[in-house]
Amino acid sequence: MLSTSDPDAVYFAKADSLLNLLTLEEKAGQMTNIGLTALTQGEFWTQADTLLLDSAKMSNLLITHGVGSVQNKGKYPPSKEEWYRIVKSIQDFTKANSRHQIPVLFGIDGVHGATYTAGSTIFPHQIALAATWNPEFSRITGEVTAYELRASSIPWNYAPVLDVSMQPLWGRIFETFGEDTYINRVMGAAYIEGAQGKSISDSISVAVCLKHFIGYGTPVSGKDRSPALIPEHYLRQYYLEPFRDAIDKGTLTVMLNSGAVNGVPGHIDKYLITDVLKGELGLKGFVITDWGDIARLVENHFVAKDKREATKLAVLAGADMCMVPYDASFAMDVIDLVQSGEIPMSRIDDAVRRILFVKFKLGLFEKSYHHPANFPEFASDSFANLSRMAAVEGITLLKNENNILPLKDNARTKVFVTGPTANSLTSLNGPWSRTFKGDDPTYDDKGKKTFLQAMQAKYGNGNVLYEQGTDFTGDIIDKTSILSKASNSEVVFICLGEQPTTEKFSDIHSLDLPPNQQELVKLLHTTGKPIVLVLLQGRPRVIREIEPLADAILMAYWPGHEGGEALAQLISGEESPSGKLPYTYPRYTNTLHTYQHKGSDKLDDNFGMNGFNPQWQFGYGLSYTSFGYSNFTLSTDTINTNYSIKGEVTVTNTGKYAGKEVVQLYIRDVVASITPDDRKLVGFEKISLNPGQSAKVSFTVSFNDLKFVGLNNKWIAEEGDFELLIGGNPSDMVKKSFYYKTSK
Ligand code: BGC
Repeated sequence: MLSTSDPDAVYFAKADSLLNLLTLEEKAGQMTNIGLTALTQGEFWTQADTLLLDSAKMSNLLITHGVGSVQNKGKYPPSKEEWYRIVKSIQDFTKANSRHQIPVLFGIDGVHGATYTAGSTIFPHQIALAATWNPEFSRITGEVTAYELRASSIPWNYAPVLDVSMQPLWGRIFETFGEDTYINRVMGAAYIEGAQGKSISDSISVAVCLKHFIGYGTPVSGKDRSPALIPEHYLRQYYLEPFRDAIDKGTLTVMLNSGAVNGVPGHIDKYLITDVLKGELGLKGFVITDWGDIARLVENHFVAKDKREATKLAVLAGADMCMVPYDASFAMDVIDLVQSGEIPMSRIDDAVRRILFVKFKLGLFEKSYHHPANFPEFASDSFANLSRMAAVEGITLLKNENNILPLKDNARTKVFVTGPTANSLTSLNGPWSRTFKGDDPTYDDKGKKTFLQAMQAKYGNGNVLYEQGTDFTGDIIDKTSILSKASNSEVVFICLGEQPTTEKFSDIHSLDLPPNQQELVKLLHTTGKPIVLVLLQGRPRVIREIEPLADAILMAYWPGHEGGEALAQLISGEESPSGKLPYTYPRYTNTLHTYQHKGSDKLDDNFGMNGFNPQWQFGYGLSYTSFGYSNFTLSTDTINTNYSIKGEVTVTNTGKYAGKEVVQLYIRDVVASITPDDRKLVGFEKISLNPGQSAKVSFTVSFNDLKFVGLNNKWIAEEGDFELLIGGNPSDMVKKSFYYKTSK
C-alpha cells in the first residue's frame, strides 16, 4: 500500500475511484491495445497512403469493447497535423460516446526520434548513441523525441530498449546500447531523464516504455524471438540492472520479451514479471505484452492450446495490457476467464488500476492531444544540429594507416565514392525510420544529404566521382567504369553495410559481410589507390578478409539524418572522431565473445586456440590525435567492506589535433568463486583536450563495484586482489592493484 505522502497517491486514488465504477467489460477494454489500422478504413495491413478513420470500427472497438489503448500507424508517416487530426478524432469520439470518457493511451515506437511523424528529427540509433560514450546525447535524444511525439499528440514512447545484447548476430542489436551493462544503465537513465522531464504530464514530456523484459537480446541462435539460456545469476548481474535503474528513475511501463529464457516464454514468466519486475524492482505502472504475443504463446511457444489459455497464463503471470493488436479477442477472453473463475477479479483490478494510474499521471484526462502549432521547435535546425553532433561523436574510426584521414585539401582532392550505402538516406537512418523496416526511399526527406551528397558539398561536385558499384547483395555492376573512376581519383571511399530491416526480417545465417561487397573492395584494391571503408550497418559484420585492403575504416552504425554530413565533417577534419565501440567487433563469424569473455583468452595462452581474438575490442576507437596517461594514483591499496577508493589519472593530448577522449575504467577481480569477467566497466568520462593540454580525471570505485552475483543469485564481494585498468584503448590500459579485505 502506498502512503499518502507518496506523490503518486493522488493518481492512485483517482484510479481507484474510477475503477470502482467500471464493469468487467470496461476493465477488459482498458487492458486492450490495438494497432491504429484496426480503426481505419481498409484491411489492417493496408498499404494505402491515407489513414481515414472508420466510424463503425471505432464504435465497435472503442465503445462496444471499450479499448483503452491504440498504437503506431499504417505504412506511411503522417504529418504532425495529420496526427493531430487522428488522435483528436479518436479522443473526441471516445469522450462523446463512452460512459466514463476515459482517454485512449496512444503509444508508438519513437526509438530514435519521432520517426513515424513526417519531417521529424531523426537521431542516430541507440547503438550509435552508446558509441558516443556521452550520456548527454542519450538525454537529448529522449528529450527531443518526446517533444516531437507530443507535437504529434502522442504521449507514450516504446523506448528505450534496455536489452543488453551479447549476441552480435541478433538483428536488433542496433536498437540497444550494446553489450555492456554499465553503458546500458547510464545511457538508459539519461534517455529517461530527457524523455520524462520534470513530469510526464508536461506537454513536452512523454512516458517511456522499457523493452523488452528480459533477456531478449541474447538469443542462443542469434535469430529474433528465439530462445535464450541465461542462468539467473547472469540474468541478475548483466541484464536486470538497467531495468532497475530505469524504474528508479520513474519509468512506469515495461514491454515483455517475445522470446523464451531458460525455456519459459517472457510473457508467462510469473516469477520475472510479478516477483522481480513488479515486486523487487517496484514497477508502479503496468506491463504490456509485445506484438501479437498471446497468439505466439500458442503458435510458436506451444505452452497454450489456444488464445484463451494463453491469455489466462499471461494475465496470471502479471501482464496488464495486451498488444493484441488486431481486434478485441483478448478482451472477450478476459471476460470469459473472469466469469468462469479462472482469473480472479483482483488480478484484473490490479492491472486496470495500474493502467488508469498511468493515464491520470500523464494528465490525459485534462488534455489528450496538443495542437502542433504549439511546437515551434519541431524539426528545427537546432534539433538537426543536435542529431549531427550525436552522429559525429558516435562514428568510430577503426583504422587510419599513415594518417590517411583527415583528407584536408577540400578544393583539390579528387575522390571516388562507391558502394550500396553511399547515396542512400535510408542507409543513414536505418530501420524504424518513416517505415518499420526503414528501407523505402519513397519517404526520404527532402533536403537531407546522403553520404555522397555531403561529400559533394564538402569537396565540390567536380571532385567527387560516383558509381554505386553493387547492391547489398548481387553482382558488381560495370567494373570497367568503377575501375576507371577509381584510377582517376586520389582516394576511394567504399560505403558498405546492411540493408535496413528489423525483427524477424533481420535474421541472418552468417555475420560475414555479403561476398559481393567484399569483392568490390578487392576489385578496387587492384588500382593501388588508398581505400576508406564506411560501414553503415546495425551489426558488426565480419570484414576480416578486406580489412587489410583498407587504409582507413569508419564504423558509422546507423547515424541518422545528419549522418552524411557528420561523416563528411570527420573525413575533412572539421571534426575529430571520438566514438568507441559499444560491442566487440568479431573477426570470425563463429567466435562471438563479448568483452567480459570469462577466461577464454587464457585458453589462447595454453592451447593456441585464439580464444579471444576480435577484429576490434569493445571500447576501441581512434582519434586524429593521441592521448597519454600518467600519474595514475589510488587513495589506498586496501579497502574494507562499505568503503571506496578514490583514484586519479592525468590525460594529455599528445598529438596535433584537438580531440575528445573516452577515459574508461575497468575493474578485474583476480580470483573469484565463479570465473570472473576478464574485466568489467565501472566508469567512463568523455573529455575534450587541445593539443598539449592535460586534464586530471578522478573517480571513485565503491565497494559495490567489486560485487558480482553468486550462484545463490545474491550480489557478493569476495576478499582478495583486484585490478583497476584505466585508459582509452582496451589493449593499452594503465593498471593498479588493490586488495579487498572483508574485516576492518
Ligand atoms: C516489437 C516492439 C515494438 C512493437 C510495437 C514489436 O514487434 O518487438 O519492439 O515496440 O512491435 O511496434
